[in-house]
Amino acid sequence: MKDEQEYFGTNVEGSEDSFTNKTTGKNENPDTLTNRQGHPVTDNQNVRTVGNRGPTTLENYDFLEKISHFDRERIPERVVHARGAGAHGYFEAYGTVGDEPISKYTRAKLFQEKGKQTPVFVRFSTVVHGGHSPETLRDPRGFAIKFYTEDGNWDLVGNNLKIFFIRDPLKFPDMVHSFKPDPVTNIQDGERMFDFLCQTPESAHMVTFLFSPWGIPANYRQMQGSGVHAYKWVNEEGKAHLVKYHFEPVLGIKNLTQKEADEIQGKNFNHATQDLYEAIEQGNYPEWEMYVQIISDDDHPELDYDPLDPTKLWYKDQFPWKKVGRLVLNKNPENYHAEVEQVAFGTGVLVDGLDFSDDKLLQGRTFSYSDTQRYRVGTNYLQLPINAPKKHVATNQRGGQMEYRVDRGENQNPHVNYEPSLIGGLKEAQKAGKDHTPYVEGEVKRERIDRTNNFGQAGETYRRFNEWERSELITNLVNTLKPCRKEIQDKMIDIFTQCDPDYGQRVAEGLKGADASGTSDTGGPIGSTETENAVKQAEEMGHPSDPY
Ligand code: HEM
Repeated sequence: MKDEQEYFGTNVEGSEDSFTNKTTGKNENPDTLTNRQGHPVTDNQNVRTVGNRGPTTLENYDFLEKISHFDRERIPERVVHARGAGAHGYFEAYGTVGDEPISKYTRAKLFQEKGKQTPVFVRFSTVVHGGHSPETLRDPRGFAIKFYTEDGNWDLVGNNLKIFFIRDPLKFPDMVHSFKPDPVTNIQDGERMFDFLCQTPESAHMVTFLFSPWGIPANYRQMQGSGVHAYKWVNEEGKAHLVKYHFEPVLGIKNLTQKEADEIQGKNFNHATQDLYEAIEQGNYPEWEMYVQIISDDDHPELDYDPLDPTKLWYKDQFPWKKVGRLVLNKNPENYHAEVEQVAFGTGVLVDGLDFSDDKLLQGRTFSYSDTQRYRVGTNYLQLPINAPKKHVATNQRGGQMEYRVDRGENQNPHVNYEPSLIGGLKEAQKAGKDHTPYVEGEVKRERIDRTNNFGQAGETYRRFNEWERSELITNLVNTLKPCRKEIQDKMIDIFTQCDPDYGQRVAEGLKGADASGTSDTGGPIGSTETENAVKQAEEMGHPSDPY
């Protein structure tokens, strides 16, 4: 076995974890409190002062170290999806896709063998609000999976809903700004959101899901997961197919009405994190069946939409779902910050046998994730245990803040941090199979796609809902649109009418006579009712107390 010194590529011993170095000083045992310098702390209750009334002295190292570390306990939270919960588990492959051997479509190793298990870390989240915001809010839910495969990591960074608001990444920051709290009041405002959405007609389908009960999943264990985009699978011959990924909860799906969510929020604003944590502690391991849809890798002129358009579903009856494995979560994080906060997923993180499609949104995302993580977590974020692949890593990347180890090859000459080299540098790997070499040709331009069909599927989704889902959708839309300016309301009614005349008419009727003057200027959580009333209630119901 290699000694630790060689393994870390530095001349420092004991850098693995705090249990590796077991030496203890005199009057110490393995559980003795120390500072970060290893000095035993003999008094953790009193700062050092001149006399026992103060003033304090500045050379009090233990205090300075403790308080200055505390001052830096937080890293910047995710710009979106800040509120999350995570767990460890495994993915178990069936070795087949439906009835066919999976190797026909992909050479990715994690899928090939029946019963093969790959460790995973999954993070669920809400999107818009901050790190400790309520988990009852109307919002898509993130469903991000890190597969620690034998070929390195594969991240599938998806949501619970199967489609998205936009199809061009250039619009993402504007979309997020309009959904986030107002920069002046710091309060979410439906008018800002619909101001953006009424001029973004491709969002009609996602809006239809979001304002229905599908916009508030009951918890994380009983919701679906989806990769949303079309990706590619590549086989041994380099031939590709387009695929979409789906995860179905074994417990079934549950969603909440706005009223039910408000009630739950009144009692517990962490209910989804608590539900996930407790289920796993009790051995009720959440489980999802993983399916794919597979279609040929071309632009499918027979469809009235573009198969790469992330605002569209590939209907199940046309493109059947095929089982490929199951996902089980069976271990809670030991430390929230080290695992759930510092985990970094990215759409660019693929393994051999998996590939991108030409979906523009997906390509925009692929830049954004690792870019933000270098800022949010740090340059060497991939060296953190939660992000590091569970396999050999050897690069010539060196330095940067918080370099924890040198990612050196076992026999790499430590003087050679470049490639190519004749004197003991790293060597390129063998190809795993034939390259997939898609042919691309066209004018370079800024243009939307041809088959936008912004309203067809949104109307179909509206008609496929149960009546209680439709009426909940209308109520939530009306409540959020009520305080909006008339021109925004009218544009949204026009969009809903193009989706389905009944849809438009019901929203219009709900808004008829709605008088914005009685409602809040500053908004409130989307979908909620009587937000202004809540403000007054707090003032009126509050119990007077005498000053002390
Ligand atoms: C151009 C479009 C998009 C951009 C630029 C974008 C950007 C981002 C960024 C910057 C983060 C924070 C990452 C971090 O700090 O670690 C994030 C998180 C996330 N995004 Fe997106 N996003 C986009 C679209 C989407 C779509 C379409 C989905 C769903 C399919 C999605 C799902 C997620 C999830 C699940 C997370 C949280 C990951 C975690 O739990 O750490 N995003 N996104």
